[in-house]
Amino acid sequence: MSKLFDILVIGAGPGGYIAAIRSAQLGFSVACCEFSAYDDPSGEPRLGGTCLNAGCIPLKALVASSEAFEKVSHNLADHGITFSEASIDIGRMQKRKEDIVTKMTSGIQFLFRKNKITLLKGRASFAGRTEEGFRVTIRGKEGDEEIIARKVIVATGSKARHIPNVRVDNVTICDNEGALKFTEAPKKLGVIGAGVIGLEVGSVWRRLGAEVTVLEVMPSFLGAADENISREAAKLFLKQGLHIKLGVRIGQAKQLESGVEIAYTDDQGAEHMLECDKLIVSVGRVPNTDQLNLEAVGLQTDERGFIPVNEHCATAAPGIYAIGDVVRGPMLAHKAEDEGVMVAELLAGQKPHLDYNTMPWVIYTTPEIAWVGKTEQQLRAEGREYKSGQFPFAANGRALGLGDAEGFVKMLADAKTDEILGVHIIGANASDLIAEASLAMEFRAASEDIARTCHPHPSLSEAVREAALAIDKRALNM
Ligand code: FAD
Ligand code: NAI
Repeated sequence: MSKLFDILVIGAGPGGYIAAIRSAQLGFSVACCEFSAYDDPSGEPRLGGTCLNAGCIPLKALVASSEAFEKVSHNLADHGITFSEASIDIGRMQKRKEDIVTKMTSGIQFLFRKNKITLLKGRASFAGRTEEGFRVTIRGKEGDEEIIARKVIVATGSKARHIPNVRVDNVTICDNEGALKFTEAPKKLGVIGAGVIGLEVGSVWRRLGAEVTVLEVMPSFLGAADENISREAAKLFLKQGLHIKLGVRIGQAKQLESGVEIAYTDDQGAEHMLECDKLIVSVGRVPNTDQLNLEAVGLQTDERGFIPVNEHCATAAPGIYAIGDVVRGPMLAHKAEDEGVMVAELLAGQKPHLDYNTMPWVIYTTPEIAWVGKTEQQLRAEGREYKSGQFPFAANGRALGLGDAEGFVKMLADAKTDEILGVHIIGANASDLIAEASLAMEFRAASEDIARTCHPHPSLSEAVREAALAIDKRALNM
């Protein structure tokens, strides 16, 4: 007889494993199925999905190592600290990254045991329905198993999108998986796509000595960010030596005996050939829906492969939910996690709500870029009347002390009610600073609320308060 569960979660990425844990906390019998796209020497599936295995966590480990290398190589002389020459052992750096990933993924195995979640090892696909629930086949190494689940949460995530004429082998031409595994810093690195991965990964290898050229199809840089932020970022990245070419059309990639050459046409129509040791393709991601056999439960994907859902992540098939990268909205780990919690709580009869407008974005470059809410160009397009306040880190004592005084905080608030509509930061620790803005917006705070809140001195967070004060032209240190 097939095993019966209250809830089956398909996929153990940040969406799936968090949905499974919250469901178990709420008293459901829960199974989570993972086929593991990622290798584990022990043969066990590596839990944690893209985020832990080939995304957020390993990439941020490399960001930290490369920032430390850049700091000791170039940025400590002002402190009076000099070295004869700093060197980096890329193998050791990669081992540190792997150790962090192993620690985090095995932590999820522990959390599953603690919460009595059944881990089903294999690839799940729908097989139909019975009176009790949904029939799901798990295709594992030891053969197929069928289970029945009263409710299903699909959290199968996404994979890198590839483009014609650029064949990814994850050795010379790499997507995010190969790009995080280089065993030495390339001398010349080409990156297709100046999005989040292109900038973060490109910056890692630039800090470690690569000459990096980023080829972007769009005529403008970082179009999703506030215009002042993208302008400042472009200026700073150029100064760091990142070559960014906008408005290009990518042609054919050709593997050479050593390295690769990629043809492209620039924004004036001139043809070029870029020769590099490694080429990274980071042109967005596509949802993993093709092997789920959704038709067996009457579901279809949209034309881009996403599973259509409502604001509660419910699909058109009652009892089946979908969360994270496999549905509309930003492809972010914290978005996937919060959707997982929301669905579990809904299934338990609670009334959770997610405000997508207060979800922060972070780009882990140097300096970091973070924002929440609307950009100035969005507010203009909506015809909304707003006020703007900006404060530079160059006028913040803590930033100067840290030697990280580039960038600024910009706050946008409603012209009449003063409600905060957006906060945009480019600067050190923007990833942490933005949390205050998200919280404020979650409470529908006014800029005055932040302006009147006592902030620690000296701290980078004072720049957030000063930006709030600047909205009414009363910044104190500018
Ligand atoms: P995933 O993490 O993709 O997990 C899905 C899981 O489902 C996988 O483990 C897969 O093996 C499994 N699966 C798929 N199909 C099946 C099946 N049929 N049966 C069983 N299992 C299946 N986001 C951030 O918020 N911050 C960051 O700093 C950040 N950095 C990133 C860096 C990189 C290089 C990349 C690529 C992404 C990054 N992201 C970041 C995005 C983030 O990783 C994703 O948004 C997040 O992982 C999505 O979570 P998910 O649970 O929806 O899917
Ligand atoms: P992206 O959507 O951020 O950027 C892709 C870029 O490639 C865009 O600028 C796009 O215009 C460009 N592009 C598309 N087709 C192209 C072509 N043919 N030629 C040249 N350029 C082309 O996607 P990316 O960087 O692959 O990242 C995928 C997702 O992963 C992100 O959207 C984000 O959701 C997530 N992520 C989040 C991070 C974070 O939160 N810090 C870090 C890394 C990834």
